[in-house]
Amino acid sequence: MIVTTKELFKHAYGKYAVGAYNINNLEQTMGLFRGNIDSKAPFILQISKGARSYANKRMLEAMIRTADEIFPESIFAVHLDHGDEETCHECIESGFYSSVMIDASHEPFEGNVAATKRVVDAAHAKGIVVEAELGMLGGVEEHVSVAEADAKLTDPDEAKEFARLTNVDSLACAIGTSHGAFKFSGGQSIHFNVLEEIQKRLPGLPLVMHGSSSVPQEEVAKINAAGGDLKGARGVDENQFARAAKLGVTKVNIDTDGRLVWCRVHREMFRDEPEVFDLRKPGTIFMAEYAKFIAHKNEKLGSAGKLEEVRAIL
Ligand code: G3H
Ligand code: 13P
Ligand code: ZN
Repeated sequence: MIVTTKELFKHAYGKYAVGAYNINNLEQTMGLFRGNIDSKAPFILQISKGARSYANKRMLEAMIRTADEIFPESIFAVHLDHGDEETCHECIESGFYSSVMIDASHEPFEGNVAATKRVVDAAHAKGIVVEAELGMLGGVEEHVSVAEADAKLTDPDEAKEFARLTNVDSLACAIGTSHGAFKFSGGQSIHFNVLEEIQKRLPGLPLVMHGSSSVPQEEVAKINAAGGDLKGARGVDENQFARAAKLGVTKVNIDTDGRLVWCRVHREMFRDEPEVFDLRKPGTIFMAEYAKFIAHKNEKLGSAGKLEEVRAIL
C-alpha cells in the first residue's frame, strides 16, 4: 500500500528511523519488498533522476505497482530522491509519487527557499509531501578546521528560518555524512552536536540523513578479494542510527550499500563459477542477499517489527 512519508514519520518520530532505499531494476525491487516484509517494516522506496532515465520512469512505476500487488501486506512511500524543480513538478503531476525531494541546496538561501516553496505549494495542493535540503552534504575532511567544517554543515538557525518560510514537511540536513563509498577521512562520525541544535529549534520536524550507507568492511574486503578495487572505502556506523533517530532523524537514505551487495554477489559468482552465463543465476542470489541486507538495516534503524502498528494508525 502506497502512503505518504508524513504518515510513516508520525509513527516513527523520535523513536526509530524509516529506511529509504533507492531502486533501479527488477532485482532490487523484488529484494526490497521481500526484505521489508520479512522484517515487518514500513519503508520508503526512492527513485533518483538517474534511475528514472536508466530504467524508464514508466517501467519503474509499473514494476512498483506490480510489486505492491505481489506483496499486498507492504506499506511504503514512493519518493523522488534529489529532484530538481522540473522533475518535482512532473512527479507531482504524475499522481504516482506520494513524496518528492526538492534539492536546491546548491542555491543561495533565498533561491533554495523560493524553489522549495514553489514545490511545497504545488505538492500540498495534491496531498503530496515534500523534503528539502539545507547545507552542503559532501564530506567534511578531517584536516578542515572546526569553523570551516561548521560552515559546510547545516546552520541550525537557518534551518529554523528555512522551515518557517517554506512549510516543508521534512528537512535533509548536512551533519557530516556524504554520498558514496568513501565517507570521512579518519575518525569522524555524524555531528550529533549540530543535529541536537537543529532538533532544539525544530522540535517535531522530521529530519533526513542522506549518505547513510555503512560500507561494511567485510563487504569491501570480499569485493576486493574478487577483483574489485575499493581501497579506503568506508561509511557511517550503523550503530549510531538509534541515537540519530532519538534526535529527530526519521528518514535514513541508503543506496551505496545496496550497490556493494550487488557488486559482491556478481564478482564472487563470476570468479567462482566462470562457466556460468545465465543472468538469472546471479540475479537470484542478489535478490535473496538484498532482502537479507534490507532486513538487517531495518533492525538497526528500529523500523523492523513496526508494520502492524503503522497499519493500525492508517
Ligand atoms: O544520492 C544519490 C543516490 O545514491 C542516487 O544515486 O543518482 O546515481 O541514482 P543516482
Ligand atoms: P549513500 O550513498 O550513503 O547510500 O546515500 C544515499 C542517499 O543519500 C540517497 O539520497
Ligand atoms: Zn542523498
